[in-house]
Amino acid sequence: MKAVRIHEFGEPEVLQYEDVDEPDPASDEVRLRVRAAGVNPVDWMTRKGMVNERELPWTVGWDVAGVVDEIGSAVNELEVGDEVYGLVGFPSGGGTYAEAMVAPEAELMKKPTSLSFEEAAGMPMVALTAWQALQALELQTGERVLIHAAAGGVGHLAVQFAKQQGFHVIGTASGSNEEFLRELGVDEFVNYREERFEEVLEPVDGVVDGVGGETFDRSLEILDEGRIIDKLPSPPTSEQKELANQHGVQAIMTNVHWDREWFGEITELVENGAISLTLDTVIPLSQAQEAHRLSEEKHAQGKIILSPENEESGSN
Ligand SMILES: NC(=O)c1ccc[n+]([C@@H]2O[C@H](COP(=O)([O-])OP(=O)(O)OC[C@H]3O[C@@H](n4cnc5c(N)ncnc54)[C@H](OP(=O)(O)O)[C@@H]3O)[C@@H](O)[C@H]2O)c1
Repeated sequence: MKAVRIHEFGEPEVLQYEDVDEPDPASDEVRLRVRAAGVNPVDWMTRKGMVNERELPWTVGWDVAGVVDEIGSAVNELEVGDEVYGLVGFPSGGGTYAEAMVAPEAELMKKPTSLSFEEAAGMPMVALTAWQALQALELQTGERVLIHAAAGGVGHLAVQFAKQQGFHVIGTASGSNEEFLRELGVDEFVNYREERFEEVLEPVDGVVDGVGGETFDRSLEILDEGRIIDKLPSPPTSEQKELANQHGVQAIMTNVHWDREWFGEITELVENGAISLTLDTVIPLSQAQEAHRLSEEKHAQGKIILSPENEESGSN
């Protein structure tokens, strides 16, 4: 079978589409035929050696959707043929950029029939991050939340969850994403390329910051005292924490983790049609290098997905 692995850290060229042995499930694991794998910024950050140190070679990726084709002896609920999705082994393991993989039963959930495999593979990491980040802000119904990078993977789910939870939602993105975000329900939209959000917005009660850097610093200017900013790209630096303190604001970073109960609630929202996932691009697994280049540009609308099913005869 084919998998996309790295043997050294570096630029997208280190992603090798190559032959590997098919894995056998341990007693608590199932083997999946991978139908789609989600691409997340942490995939290329790990590829570069910036985060999540690990032994090599490593098969990239944590988000997956697929079909169970073998089960371990202690597997209770899942059966051969089940369609599942999940966030597997994050942050230590991984291995979803492959035609097949093994995963603990506990890290998978049955895929809603309303979702395609591509949509399902895009969901786990961004939905759990958005969910956990919003929870961390401790907001009440009707309060104002500012979501930066609202059109990205995490952001477009955060917008939908925030609306579900009855918050007043403000999203930042470039102008080409305004209609997309209005359809998802944002109450206010700021085109960050043309306006400075801290100059045009009334104070807010919480910030999900999917951008960081100066966006973080400027957000402090419109965050009410005693409130929380959740900086997702990397932990707030000591200078940023100090700056936040000066504004009477708490700076945190949510670290996404698999939570079956929460993912069950998210799955119910999907099944009820209350939230949806937008696909930016579906790319053949053999072209993972291209998928990473695209993700590193940081302008995806929704999710970039890798699909073993779109394989062409060649490889990179
Ligand atoms: N802490 C955690 O556990 C955790 C988990 C998941 C993700 N993250 C981090 O959260 C961030 C977002 O992740 P993601 O998966 O949503 O990334 P993504 O899908 O790659 O985000 C792309 C989006 O960013 C927007 N964007 C770029 N620059 C912007 C700016 N200055 N202001 C507003 N929007 C801007 C783009 O909008 P335009 O095209 O309109 O510019 C695009 O829609 C990443 O840094 C990621 O590493 C952290």
